[in-house]
Amino acid sequence: MTTALEFMPADKIAAPRAWPAADNATSNNAAAPAAAATGAAAAGRRRLEGKVAIVTGGARGIGEAIVRVFVRHGARVLIADIDDAAGQALASSLIGTGEEAGAESLACCSFVHCDVSCEADVERAVGLALAAHGRLDVLCNNAGVLGGQGTGSPNNNTNSIASLDAAEFDRVLRVNALGAALGMKHAARAMLQGNGNGHGGSIVSVASVAGVLGGMGPHAYTASKHALLGLTKNAACELGKHGIRVNCVSPFGVATSMLVNAWRDRTAGAGDEDDEGIVMSGARWASEVEKTEEMLRGMATLKGPTLREADVAEAALFLASDESSYVSGHNLVVDGGVTTSRNVIGL
Ligand SMILES: NC(=O)c1ccc[n+]([C@@H]2O[C@H](COP(=O)([O-])OP(=O)(O)OC[C@H]3O[C@@H](n4cnc5c(N)ncnc54)[C@H](O)[C@@H]3O)[C@@H](O)[C@H]2O)c1
Repeated sequence: MTTALEFMPADKIAAPRAWPAADNATSNNAAAPAAAATGAAAAGRRRLEGKVAIVTGGARGIGEAIVRVFVRHGARVLIADIDDAAGQALASSLIGTGEEAGAESLACCSFVHCDVSCEADVERAVGLALAAHGRLDVLCNNAGVLGGQGTGSPNNNTNSIASLDAAEFDRVLRVNALGAALGMKHAARAMLQGNGNGHGGSIVSVASVAGVLGGMGPHAYTASKHALLGLTKNAACELGKHGIRVNCVSPFGVATSMLVNAWRDRTAGAGDEDDEGIVMSGARWASEVEKTEEMLRGMATLKGPTLREADVAEAALFLASDESSYVSGHNLVVDGGVTTSRNVIGL
């Protein structure tokens, strides 16, 4: 039995993370770089001042963290997501927080319904950003789905390539790979036409450690993230001459609704299946998140910190900002060393 969480309404998936007002509270790791970096915004150094950004899949999870950090650093952000309720609520909650005062404060965050696998939606989202702000500086291709196949119990043969579901494979590739390609296409057009000579732009896609190593996710998901890395390198190659940088961020596991629900299914006994579709209380959700994080800490190479949404957002912020002005075609892994080392000899 698999439950693709993306089929479930958001309110049945997760109680939202608590996002305290203080900048340095977005990562729960006391000594996390996220705290120091977001502290820069508190100190007045806004790293995306004057920039216009689109964040796909920005309504919740890692995308929500990216939206929050982009707004905090002075960007005007358009959230493009299929979850209208969560996206609109987030945009409303951020209006007025990005700029100190004046008309700009009303325009720092907005929402548009956008299914990234539908070209008309993507084109409309980019068009809206241009109409509202006259330019596009940053596209963050964050929207993604894990897919149903391969998230079931380890003994379930639907995990096997021998049981590959072609329709499900196609659906995952359409969102994770084609969706990012469509975003690049329309963002590149906008950056070429709308930003004037020399402005360029930055395209940052959220890939995954499953785009680097096998065995980190279901087959379709792994294929889609490998495709995204290849696409990033090719687009960087082509768009470099226009001053447009194209990069990826590749996180290890983060206990968002994507992962928590997939792992709940994986570890659930038959009796637990009644939970499906029931709105979880905040306390119940917090306990599921803690269980997932405990498993992730066990698998991690780097011991101590727990990878959180805000840590991934800080990496995306670096690649979106002018601080990475000579970085292109790069895959910035945020994985504590998982993809670079395996402690075979017991170091
Ligand atoms: N959570 C992890 O462990 C992890 C690890 C590595 C990479 N990632 C990647 O990070 C990205 C964000 O994942 P998350 O963990 O925050 O997941 P999530 O499920 O919590 O959030 C995904 C967001 O994308 C939106 N979305 C889904 N399909 C969409 C579509 N077709 N068009 C527009 N929006 C759509 C959802 O509504 C949601 O707001 C994904 O690309 C995922 O593959 C996640």
